[in-house]
Amino acid sequence: MKNHILLAIFASSFVFGNITLSSNSSSVNNTREEYVLIGWNDLGMHCANQDFSNIAVLPPFNNVRAQLIEKIPGEMPQIRTTGFRIEYSIPGNTYSVGKTNFWQYAQDLFGLPEPLPDNIGLTGLGLAGEMALHDQYFEAVGIPNTPYTDDDLVNEQPYQLIHLEAIDESTGALLATTDVTIPVSNEIGCVQAGCHSSETQILYEHEDEDGYDPTATPILCASCHASNALGTTGDPEARSMSYRIHKKHREEGPLYNINTCYKCHPGPDTQCFRGVMESGVDELMICQDCHGTMNTMYQSIDQGREPWLDEPSCGDGNCHGANYAEEPNALFRESQGHGGMFCSACHGSPHAVYPTRVDNDNLQSISLQGHAGTLSDCAVCHTSWPGGGGPHGYSGEPFETMGDANLDGEVNVLDIVVIIGFILGQDAPDDIEFAVSDLNGDGNLDVLDIVLMVQLIIGDQL
Ligand code: HEC
Ligand code: HEC
Ligand code: HEC
Ligand code: HEC
Ligand code: HEC
Repeated sequence: MKNHILLAIFASSFVFGNITLSSNSSSVNNTREEYVLIGWNDLGMHCANQDFSNIAVLPPFNNVRAQLIEKIPGEMPQIRTTGFRIEYSIPGNTYSVGKTNFWQYAQDLFGLPEPLPDNIGLTGLGLAGEMALHDQYFEAVGIPNTPYTDDDLVNEQPYQLIHLEAIDESTGALLATTDVTIPVSNEIGCVQAGCHSSETQILYEHEDEDGYDPTATPILCASCHASNALGTTGDPEARSMSYRIHKKHREEGPLYNINTCYKCHPGPDTQCFRGVMESGVDELMICQDCHGTMNTMYQSIDQGREPWLDEPSCGDGNCHGANYAEEPNALFRESQGHGGMFCSACHGSPHAVYPTRVDNDNLQSISLQGHAGTLSDCAVCHTSWPGGGGPHGYSGEPFETMGDANLDGEVNVLDIVVIIGFILGQDAPDDIEFAVSDLNGDGNLDVLDIVLMVQLIIGDQL
């Protein structure tokens, strides 16, 4: 029986010849690729004031990054930038003016030469637009989103989705899309947490320093207290915002309790720390496990720590160690690992390491590999199993691709029929079909591949 199939195949092949990835193959290649778009938020949470009339700690300012990967059959995946663009939008959240009074005070607070146009943030971006292109990634810095959807101006929704679309600049074709969280919270708890009776009270409690005038509202604390989040250098005597705020409040709340930090960092409702280290392992972690207590927070600054820039590290010897480390002297969010992919592309944002307890955080992993969690499935980016040498040395699960000409996930006699169809010219294979059918990898689909196919199928049955 098997011999008969073989003979029949030989016969037809000799009669009808073969097809080849010929000299015009480049045009075939360029129209049939598959692209993967992976996005993430840089910090895992952005805080912003809602009311800027008295005090401004942080403006609406969100950052999203993305990497676009081209999957090339038979080759390694490639990170693409030049020649492509990524557009973003936040479905159901299309304006910010009125959801916060930021635009009323922005010019004054940030010393801008002109008023900011409505719904445009400090870097000139709006709630929809185009990401900027960098060497190996795309980035939108300063999206002025709020936690309020257009439909609900009352209840905060801190974990909304941003929609990203990758477009081929030359053809205008939509290549890939993804949806990731663009987290923002107004839960800066000075008054909300029940600690201060009003923001005005905070202003009047401030020491009577030279140049400090509680009536000169709105007041940007970072104008005197240096903040690396806002890029202000402040007044050296006033010291940094992080130093002052953590020192001043060091006795508010138990030292080793996450709720001490949630009084100001969002927060009892938002609970920004939500990833696998918060909820997914035997021993659940709290902020203090990585950052130390309120005392550590300011004393470490006395010892030379730079707020926002010197932060905990996965690669710390007491944590995951060298095989899982960031790049030397780089923050997690700035580090790239396997194949030039950012750590966050596979693991998510800081404080929201996959999988998280917020459904929206998990959507991208689920859509790319069928389940939440680290992007661990090599097939997300690779068209055939690389056989090892993956992220941190993982080899991943082998996945069946060669021989699966009809792309149904199985290699069987139906694939032989399909390959014969290709050879007879009844059907033109696309790139992936071609690659999985070209078993000997010689760039031709011909009888030799069918011989190998038969061996593959018989081999599987033995
Ligand atoms: C005009 C400059 C200026 C502005 C604006 C300003 N500060 Fe200060 N602040 C200072 C200086 C200077 C000191 C340090 C005084 C000292 O050395 O004791 C200080 C001290 C502090 C302290 C420590 C006080 C203590 O009792 O330990 C806190 C907390 C603080 N500021 C918070 C804020 C907050 C919050 C804002 C925004 C609402 C703000 N500051 C705005 C100049 C300023
Ligand atoms: C009283 C309010 C308050 C509390 C309580 C608080 N923070 Fe903060 N924290 C802030 C503010 C405000 C900033 C922003 C400072 C700036 O703009 O530079 C900040 C910034 C930070 C930063 C980034 C700057 C840096 O120093 O690296 C870290 C990390 C941080 N907080 C950790 C914690 C942890 C951990 C806790 C609980 C142990 C905590 N905070 C409790 C108000 C607070
Ligand atoms: C598992 C360790 C870990 C825990 C737990 C943790 N953090 Fe962090 N945190 C980090 C790391 C790592 C960074 C640096 C991330 C980066 O930007 O690359 C960081 C950075 C920060 C920053 C600076 C902004 C940023 O993302 O760089 C703030 C603010 C902060 N953490 C607050 C908190 C608060 C508040 C909690 C608890 C609710 C907390 N962290 C829990 C590891 C941790
Ligand atoms: C291409 C995807 C990918 C990239 C990029 C990547 N990782 Fe991973 N990482 C994995 C996979 C897969 C695992 C295996 C465990 C899992 O499934 O979560 C892992 C595990 C880890 C772990 C947990 C190790 C343990 O002790 O269990 C840490 C920490 C880690 N990675 C840090 C990083 C850092 C830091 C970077 C950036 C320098 C990075 N990773 C880049 C895929 C990736
Ligand atoms: C999120 C995308 C992604 C995932 C998931 C992924 N890779 Fe890769 N891989 C890449 C990229 C991009 C390259 C870089 C190719 C280049 O530049 O030539 C690469 C390159 C490689 C290489 C070539 C050597 C090197 O490191 O550049 C090997 C081997 C490899 N990957 C194995 C694996 C294995 C095994 C897995 C699964 C455990 C895996 N990869 C998962 C994106 C990914």
